[in-house]
Amino acid sequence: MFRITEGIKFISCSGIRNWSLSCVNGLRFKIHENELELDDEKEFRSEKFPFVWLRDNCTCSQCFQPASKARFVLMKDLKLDVKPKTVDTHLDENEVKITWEDGHVSEFARDWLLARSFADEKVKQRLAEERGQDQKITWDASYIKNMKQHKFQDVMNCNESLLSWLQDLRLYGLTILNEMESHPKALRALLNRIGFPKSTHYGEEFSVIAKPDPNNLAYTNSSLGLHVDLPFYQYNPGIQFLHCVKQTDMSGGDNEFVDGFNLAGIIRRSHPKYWNLLTKLAINFWDRGSEQFSGEFYKYTSLPTFQLNAFGEVYRVNFNNQVRDNVMNIPLKDVKDLYEALMFLNDLAYDPQNMILYKLQAGECVIFDNQRILHGRRGYALEEGGHRYLQGGYMDWDEVNSKINVLRSSRIET
Ligand code: OGA
Ligand code: ZN
Ligand code: ZN
Repeated sequence: MFRITEGIKFISCSGIRNWSLSCVNGLRFKIHENELELDDEKEFRSEKFPFVWLRDNCTCSQCFQPASKARFVLMKDLKLDVKPKTVDTHLDENEVKITWEDGHVSEFARDWLLARSFADEKVKQRLAEERGQDQKITWDASYIKNMKQHKFQDVMNCNESLLSWLQDLRLYGLTILNEMESHPKALRALLNRIGFPKSTHYGEEFSVIAKPDPNNLAYTNSSLGLHVDLPFYQYNPGIQFLHCVKQTDMSGGDNEFVDGFNLAGIIRRSHPKYWNLLTKLAINFWDRGSEQFSGEFYKYTSLPTFQLNAFGEVYRVNFNNQVRDNVMNIPLKDVKDLYEALMFLNDLAYDPQNMILYKLQAGECVIFDNQRILHGRRGYALEEGGHRYLQGGYMDWDEVNSKINVLRSSRIET
């Protein structure tokens, strides 16, 4: 063990000069004004760790509670200019032990520190991994030929199959599970296999059946234009499940699917004027009514058609002609232009080059990204044999992303 005791004198009076200590094997360190620098001989790396960060992330039992993976330390008790009094390394154990000016002791394992490196290339690598998980493969009508299909029983019984399906869902945004029991309760078992279902004012789940006095167009036998569900929710469901319990024996009842991210890409590349309108001008969506499950509801949002993240990429599509409000809080001069842009988007969505038509059969469940994929339904007749029943449910992406992380165990562990 190397012990440096005069450190305090040096740090308190000397600015950024530093001193170092060599050792034969393992860690060497230098103390800078604000950072500890480690020279890792094994990996030929030099790494700097700010003192405030080291003190903040002390993992002793007074500062950190491992079971909840959370800090006890309050920010008000953290000193921005905190400095070590002494720094020791344990050669054998590859550990750094810091005694702070107030006498508190923090110990850090070499590998723990290196996994949290602030080196540019390591930060870039971690960001790329994070962004890699956000990567999407956009598609047009040709996706029908190799649409990702998985077997319900595999997903229910095997973690690898579950992971493979959820990763496909995140990447392509549209998947089918087949060989599912055509019983309405099967959907709940599937939702529970992943995480918490998302309840909405239409219930914990919803039954898409043509019924008298419908409070939603879905509960009729009419065609439904391409749309995302519930854009009038600020936190709308990330994922939608439609499990076919019974399909009509007559014509109609087919579903339409379009990749909204693909449409966004086309418009961005070819029609900057429409792109500008669809990313900047907010559209109001609303839903007002009542439902046995929830009583009266009145949901309202104001959102652009394409929402962009900090990298300028589309992360949420808000398109639903049925529940677009007639109140428009945009300048008069933009109204006609916005209609033109929306009509262009709608035509592009229905272009057979972009849209998939799929008639679900009993025992199939379609699962799709409700912030990305537009879905629609062809109308059907309610004659003898025309009965159709889809059991629907929702879930947030947080639940699915969490399940993927658990199954991959991909996060850095503390
Ligand atoms: C819905 C919906 C489609 C269908 O319930 O949101 O779009 O096929 N249903 O009935
Ligand atoms: Zn501590
Ligand atoms: Zn819908």
